Amino acid sequence: MGENVKIKPGGRISGYMPVPGDKSISIRAVLLSSVSDGVSNISGYGTGEDILSSVKCMEQLGIVFRKKGKKLTITGKGFDGLLPSDEPLDCGNSGTTLRLLTGLLAGQRNAYVLTGDDSLKKRPMARIVEPLRLMGADIVYLKKEGRIPIKINPAELRGIKYNMPVASAQLKSAILFAGMYASGTTIVTEPACSRDHTEIMFENRGIEILKNGLDISIKKPDNIPASDIQIPGDISGAAFFIVLASILKGSELTIRNVCINDTRRGIIDVLENMGADIRILKSRKEGGEPVADLEDKYSKLKGVEISGDVIPKVIDEIPAIAIAAAHAQGVTVIKDAEELRVKETDRIKAVCVNLKRMGAKVEEKNDGLKIQGGKKLKGSILDSYKDHRIAMAFAVAACTAEGHSVITDSEWADISFPGFYSILHRLRELEHNE
Ligand code: S3P
Repeated sequence: MGENVKIKPGGRISGYMPVPGDKSISIRAVLLSSVSDGVSNISGYGTGEDILSSVKCMEQLGIVFRKKGKKLTITGKGFDGLLPSDEPLDCGNSGTTLRLLTGLLAGQRNAYVLTGDDSLKKRPMARIVEPLRLMGADIVYLKKEGRIPIKINPAELRGIKYNMPVASAQLKSAILFAGMYASGTTIVTEPACSRDHTEIMFENRGIEILKNGLDISIKKPDNIPASDIQIPGDISGAAFFIVLASILKGSELTIRNVCINDTRRGIIDVLENMGADIRILKSRKEGGEPVADLEDKYSKLKGVEISGDVIPKVIDEIPAIAIAAAHAQGVTVIKDAEELRVKETDRIKAVCVNLKRMGAKVEEKNDGLKIQGGKKLKGSILDSYKDHRIAMAFAVAACTAEGHSVITDSEWADISFPGFYSILHRLRELEHNE
């Protein structure tokens, strides 16, 4: 641990690139297949640390996984078949594993302890625990109120109608996973539409989900059938290269097989508003998810305002968008994004500190950032804050700077994108700039 990567600026990117399987969809597939009846084959799953954390937790609960190339075979134990575990379940750095697993385990017949790494121990859990307790869950904080480690005792759950205070797909999904084990109907209402991969996957497995505006309801299924799934490429990983191609002169990049679900494609829409040249090709559906190839060329960008209902659709892409904003002519204002303060690190602060180190004009706001673009960035020592998305966003920024940069604790990129730096290196043609 504690690796540094040195990034030489310049060049352009060109060619085709692969992106890892979508992290959100992979984790949902691991959890849902574990409680399904029979064998599910998950093709193209992501191999980032967060997904491995979800696999390890489910292995501890008696689920058998077999890996063959890009295929993961999961033999589910059915609706009620998870084994007890004396050891705590370690979710590592993965908020999605922790939150969704809490929902899945709230209505089981065994007690479980859930924990994670230092970053996850600082992240809010009350938003998940509160509605689950209203459903009858028996969840105890073992050390600190509102934080992991938590103990989930066996409980009988009942359906509730719940108005979510934040547009969080992790919260919505935790309630929907618990809703599978609750008597009656469980209804969640979102303040704005967050990613809907849980709903799509549940529907694909025959679990009845009803949508009415921002209301989503679920009823306990009799059983969950196993199902094969092809995981599309992760737009959140692609985002770093989409931004890089847009800001590095002469770039022309094709990214294949990317999930362009409406609740995730905000990065494309925002960059297009900024003047980016992105083409969506061969739109199709895989496993109920819209997928396409993307073609992205260098283009002059302009500042924009990003706020309101768009924020949940770009929540993981804001560090990358901030780098695009630093290259755009004019001001970019990002508002209503206070959720960024409770991610793997405080991403508003992390982006602001690193951009300032590079000489950018940026102001930190409670709920976002104001970035005055167009000033040439200079190479610097850039802290990843042990946050995968900060490491990758600033590796992208470093490519356009004057002088070398160093990303500290660079290996945290492996949380969602193993091989990120070698792909970055391979796609850049640097010979003309040496
Ligand atoms: C995720 C939801 C988002 C996102 C996270 C993955 C998911 O978190 O930031 O990376 O898979 O449901 P919130 O639900 O906390 O906004």
